Amino acid sequence: MGNFKSIQQSLATELTGLNGLIRKTLDSPNELMNKVIASYLEKEGKQVRPILVMLCARLLGDVTDKTLKGAAAVELLHNASLIHDDVVDDTEKRRGAPTINAIWDNHLAVLIGDFFLSNALLLAAATDDIRIVNSISELGRLLSIGELDEIYTARFNNLDEEAYFQIIFRKTASLFVACAEVGVFSAGIGKDDPRAAALVEYSRLLGLCFQIKDDIFDYYADTEIGKPTGNDLREGKITLPLLHVLRDQSLPGCDEMRALAREEALGTGEISRLITYAIDNGGIEYAYDTMSRLRDQAAKLITGSFAPSPTRDALISLFDFIIERRH
Ligand code: FPP
Ligand code: MG
Repeated sequence: MGNFKSIQQSLATELTGLNGLIRKTLDSPNELMNKVIASYLEKEGKQVRPILVMLCARLLGDVTDKTLKGAAAVELLHNASLIHDDVVDDTEKRRGAPTINAIWDNHLAVLIGDFFLSNALLLAAATDDIRIVNSISELGRLLSIGELDEIYTARFNNLDEEAYFQIIFRKTASLFVACAEVGVFSAGIGKDDPRAAALVEYSRLLGLCFQIKDDIFDYYADTEIGKPTGNDLREGKITLPLLHVLRDQSLPGCDEMRALAREEALGTGEISRLITYAIDNGGIEYAYDTMSRLRDQAAKLITGSFAPSPTRDALISLFDFIIERRH
């Protein structure tokens, strides 16, 4: 966490600018909208995504006004997707606080999500850079496909690691890729520059790890994440730790566990049996080993593409923070 704090501090002025821009953009003549949004913005997340945009821009030049607009667009689109996701998943808590659909209702949450999404597109357009508009719009497409993929895969229980990685790319890593693109474009660099390719690939790997770590939280109670344990399995989603152990047919009880994992509407007892099975058979270690492999790949890419600098170090320590974070 120490390292993440120092990254935030190194971008303190830019983050203040970002949050001012977000508040100004979301202001509207509708009092109810303002009220709901003010309470939503109180529980601000870690803002990892706009930080990634800014670090990419800084590594290649400067954080400019265009970078801030692009970063705000990414952050608003991300929040739009979370607000909508909480409706889709019927979730009552996020970041330890009640969701908009829980406090109000689904109708209002969908409309607030729409408002965030529209403002994300306006901010992207305000960069006057069609490449940024394209990145943000493409991102909305991928997130929607990813969400549908996940529901489809959940329904048909495809116990396949490749399908898992495709889902987490679309639903999470695509956002991190968009962050790199927006940061790179805002620094006046084109996508064909090898430094841009390195940052995009680094961000894809970071995004994959972000979701793998997020999925690990679901195996444990008492985290600071503010969401109940076993939520993914309750929604029919099988994630990397369990997926890995279910592939090992030599494990005692594997056939029974595979059949259980494919069942619809699992009860609390069944969910905890599957979670215990994954933990006891090394599923969590496997997920950590996977993240560490991706981390080394990403670090090699960045150190091979950029000269040493505090911003380069910050990017690498951001990766470590994502893997080590407790919420
Ligand atoms: C959280 O996943 C949700 C997402 C990463 C993406 C949600 C995408 C949509 C609802 C569609 C696109 C929306 C827009 C506005 C373009 P999760 O449910 O695994 O994680 P959680 O536990 O944090 O809810
Ligand atoms: Mg969800």
